[in-house]
Amino acid sequence: MYLIDSANVKSIKQLSETYGIKGVTTNPKLMAKENRTDYFHHLREITDLIHPYTLYVQVNGETTEAMIEEAERFLNHINPPFSVKIPATSAGFKAMGALKDRVPIAATGVVDFHQGLMAIESGATAVVVYVNRMLASGLAPFDMIDSLRLVSEREEREVLIIAASFKSTDQVRMALEFGAHEVSVPPKLLEYMFLHPLTEESVKDFSKDFRERYNAPHVKSNN
Ligand code: G3P
Repeated sequence: MYLIDSANVKSIKQLSETYGIKGVTTNPKLMAKENRTDYFHHLREITDLIHPYTLYVQVNGETTEAMIEEAERFLNHINPPFSVKIPATSAGFKAMGALKDRVPIAATGVVDFHQGLMAIESGATAVVVYVNRMLASGLAPFDMIDSLRLVSEREEREVLIIAASFKSTDQVRMALEFGAHEVSVPPKLLEYMFLHPLTEESVKDFSKDFRERYNAPHVKSNN
C-alpha cells in the first residue's frame, strides 16, 4: 500500500524498519539530489535494503534507444526485483513495447486517462499517476484514478495503479479512496501521516498515572 518516494538510503532504511514499507520509487531528480557518483552501487544499496520488495527505477534518456539501453544496464547491474520506470511519452511507449517481455515496466508521469491506458496497452504492469502535478495544472487526478481502475479491472488487465507526486496527506488519502493500489510518498510526508502529537500526549498522560501508582515506568513482575 505505502511506498517510499526517495533515493535517500538513510530514510529508506529507517522507514522500512519502522513501518515495513513495501517498495521504493526513485526518479532522476531524486537520485541526483543525493549527490552521489556511484549510481549502480547506490541503487544496489536500496534493493538490498528493501528486499524482497520492488525498486522502481527510472530511465533518464529521452529517446527510445537510450531508454532501452538504460533498461539493459539496469538488468546487468541491479538485483531483482525491480521495475523500470519509463515515461509515458511517444519514445517511452515504444520502449515499453520493446522491453515488456524482459523486465516489469512502470509507466511514469501519467497525467491523462488515455495515456494510462496506452501505457497498459504498450506492456506496462504499473502506471504511476502524478497527483500533485496534475492538481497544480488544474487536472483531475482522482477521477482519472477511478476511471483507470474501473476500466483496467473490467478489461481484466493485471496492472498496479501507483499514485505519486504528493504534497499533502489528504491527497494521499483521496488517491487511495479513489482506487490507487499503492501510493508512493516522500519520507517527510510519510512520517507526518503516521505520527500524531495527540497520540504522544495520550501516552505521556497514561505513563505519568502508571508511574505514580506503581512506582515503575512499565509493568514488571513485582508490580
Ligand atoms: O515518483 C514521482 C514523484 O517523485 C514526482 O513527485 O514531487 O516531483 O511532483 P514531484
